[in-house]
Amino acid sequence: MQTTRLNNGIEMPVLGYGVFQITDHEECQRCVRQAIWDGYRLFDTATAYYNEQDVGKACREMVKDGAVSREDLFLTTKVWLQDYGDGKTMQSVERSLKKMGMDYLDLVLLHQPFGNWQAAWRELEELSCSGLVRAIGASNFTEKKLEELLDMARIIPSVNQIERHPFYTEDRYIARMKRMGVQAESWGALCEGLKGIFHNQVLTRIGERYGKSAAQVAIRWNIQTGCIALVKSVRPEKMEEDIEVFDFALTQDEIREIASLDTGHSEIIDLENPVTERLLLKAKLLA
Ligand SMILES: NC(=O)c1ccc[n+]([C@@H]2O[C@H](COP(=O)([O-])OP(=O)(O)OC[C@H]3O[C@@H](n4cnc5c(N)ncnc54)[C@H](OP(=O)(O)O)[C@@H]3O)[C@@H](O)[C@H]2O)c1
Repeated sequence: MQTTRLNNGIEMPVLGYGVFQITDHEECQRCVRQAIWDGYRLFDTATAYYNEQDVGKACREMVKDGAVSREDLFLTTKVWLQDYGDGKTMQSVERSLKKMGMDYLDLVLLHQPFGNWQAAWRELEELSCSGLVRAIGASNFTEKKLEELLDMARIIPSVNQIERHPFYTEDRYIARMKRMGVQAESWGALCEGLKGIFHNQVLTRIGERYGKSAAQVAIRWNIQTGCIALVKSVRPEKMEEDIEVFDFALTQDEIREIASLDTGHSEIIDLENPVTERLLLKAKLLA
């Protein structure tokens, strides 16, 4: 697995397996075990996904069986809005560690840029000095919110995880993040299967030149244009397919052609819409 170096010097894999919407506990554990066999080393969960315990359990089993070492794994979780500030951010991370049965986490993100994220960031900064967390970052921070975060931060976020796929390329923002020293990470690298991505003509035609699928071209494009890509499939053959992206490279012309698919707006969630903010702030996690 290729890695990239974050602004605090730690190495992070450039492709990861996400477990959003894998709600069945057995299935989640099975997928994480399979993903490790396939070569995935980065795992992305969140308190809001209700499966941190499954990611932790599968990873611990694979470490115990000698299939992988803990140091080779890169585990990310995210803090939900209701736990921003007043000591709750630290408690949330401590709960995540306990659920996952881990001594430390590699990356902890603020899941959404709403509510008192400033207070939550201060707590993450404290945590990052404690040794419990190797890196801290943001998720879904728009350019304006990321600027606000950088203005108040004592520790610059290592990562900002945002929606990014061929229909929402965010190229200018990605370049800006790079200048800020913040690594962009793409969620929904396959546009959650929407917009006919797996049959898109441009992606399919490019893929045919390399014997690759549209999905593999989309993932490769994401990585080759400087992002860490997150993907999810519960089907073993698709999990294998999604990691087979390191034996070909897109040309600059192909990258430009893919950029032409950009619609300039999100296909999944509109973070600038006040209704989104209200709904997310209302969403309370069960204990
Ligand atoms: N920070 C955030 O707010 C946020 C938001 C969303 C996601 N994420 C993270 O990003 C990860 C990935 O995003 P995502 O899960 O939303 O969506 P995604 O990876 O873009 O797409 C997943 C969909 O694509 C299908 N799929 C995967 N590989 C395929 C292939 N090779 N051919 C055909 N279909 C394929 C999956 O189907 P099957 O499962 O049926 O195979 C699933 O329906 C998440 O799991 C999560 O960790 C973060």
